[in-house]
Amino acid sequence: MNIAIIGSGYVGLVTGVCLAEIGHKVTCVDNNAEKIKLLKKLKSPIYEPGLEFLLKSNVRKKRLSFLTSVTQASKKADVIFIAVGTPSRKDGDADLTYVEKAACEIAEGMDSYKVIVEKSTVPAQTGKRIERAINLTLSKRNKNKKTKRIDFDVASNPEFLREGSAITDFMNPDRIVIGVQSKRAEKMLRDVYKPLKARLIVTDMNSAEIIKHASNSFLATKISFINAVSQICDRVGANVLEVAEGMGFDKRIGKEFLSSGIGYGGSCFPKDVDAFVHLSQKSGYDFDLLKEVRNVNENQKKSFVKMIEESLWIVKNKTIGVLGLSFKSNTDDMRNAPSLDIIRALQKEGAKIKAYDPQAMPKAKEVLKSVKFVKDAYEVAKGADCLLLLTEWEEFKKLNFRKIHQLMNHALIFDGRNFYDKKQLEKLGFEYFGIGTASV
Ligand code: UDX
Repeated sequence: MNIAIIGSGYVGLVTGVCLAEIGHKVTCVDNNAEKIKLLKKLKSPIYEPGLEFLLKSNVRKKRLSFLTSVTQASKKADVIFIAVGTPSRKDGDADLTYVEKAACEIAEGMDSYKVIVEKSTVPAQTGKRIERAINLTLSKRNKNKKTKRIDFDVASNPEFLREGSAITDFMNPDRIVIGVQSKRAEKMLRDVYKPLKARLIVTDMNSAEIIKHASNSFLATKISFINAVSQICDRVGANVLEVAEGMGFDKRIGKEFLSSGIGYGGSCFPKDVDAFVHLSQKSGYDFDLLKEVRNVNENQKKSFVKMIEESLWIVKNKTIGVLGLSFKSNTDDMRNAPSLDIIRALQKEGAKIKAYDPQAMPKAKEVLKSVKFVKDAYEVAKGADCLLLLTEWEEFKKLNFRKIHQLMNHALIFDGRNFYDKKQLEKLGFEYFGIGTASV
């Protein structure tokens, strides 16, 4: 099928590249000419394992191309995905300016039946608004040029990709949700995803939109729940790792998303929880549970900083070494990374920060001031009064801790992800602080 993807950000680019990989002819569009130039040179603007490889091979097979014009790309496409940014406004609501703009530009170029699919995370009823924006543009066109009426369908197909494992997630989804208004659109979308042989859930459009909000908010709730439990564990002398394991073996609960730490970050959970709280309020329901999920997440970072302050006693002029900056491993994404709040809070107390991240340093340099970025973990350790593990990169598991111990000024480790074995590090002479593991 001929497919156009409007917006070559995280979701758009991964979706476009993967749809090309499963055999479709895809045009990825972005209004950022620099980005399109980079993509045409076969370079990925984001770090995502496997993405650049697939990008190169599908361009070479002539299944993938790039454009800056939405109208031009939409013209030859059967299915058009809208995957533009939907940033949060100050009140938590999603800013849909780019979605509306994309819808109007698609309508400008429409000359045959199309399915327009919203893939960006949007509030419920956005599909209806897209439909209206397209209809308005089409009537204006008809009035001016007296062209014949063109049929189209709007559908919703929320994205569940995780950064760092986006390609695998796309190719092996737990389920694909499509919210449609007609059998014709359903058939087209079934055809798009047929090569994946995945479980397809077909709903109405509003329900598909809510599935996305509810899924991400539920996962955020699971993380905040275990983080709240970790606070109790520290106070009563229990081990949150064992508690999570004991809970997770119950199939109804499940093992995933029960890792306690410095809280969730990224471009999705914080934004989606805000948007769901806002949407609920607007619809007349106060989703207090989700507000508390947010509070627990913020407190998790604060209590981590407090633990560091209490152990160091005087923070001013101490050198704090930071391992990992991105919001999670296998990505260079710094959006809402817990490391940002933690580093800024310690800088406020007068700490000197030295940091290293395998991928995120270029992006971190744009948002963090007065941090000394160094070339590896050993440079971070050199002369440091303590180490903070803020992102669970695999390479930090393989460090030579005897060497780290020798390099440090004081051998203190604050593990924000419960990533290390406390007993092993203590054997090597470290003082170790985890989250909810005080009793270990
Ligand atoms: C998330 C959803 O998982 C995905 O379905 C959606 O499409 C986009 O948002 P992503 O933000 O890429 O994906 O990362 P994810 O792996 O879900 O982690 C989100 C945050 O939660 C990270 O900061 C991570 O460190 C944290 N997390 C995750 C925990 O603190 N504990 C856990 O047990 C799991």
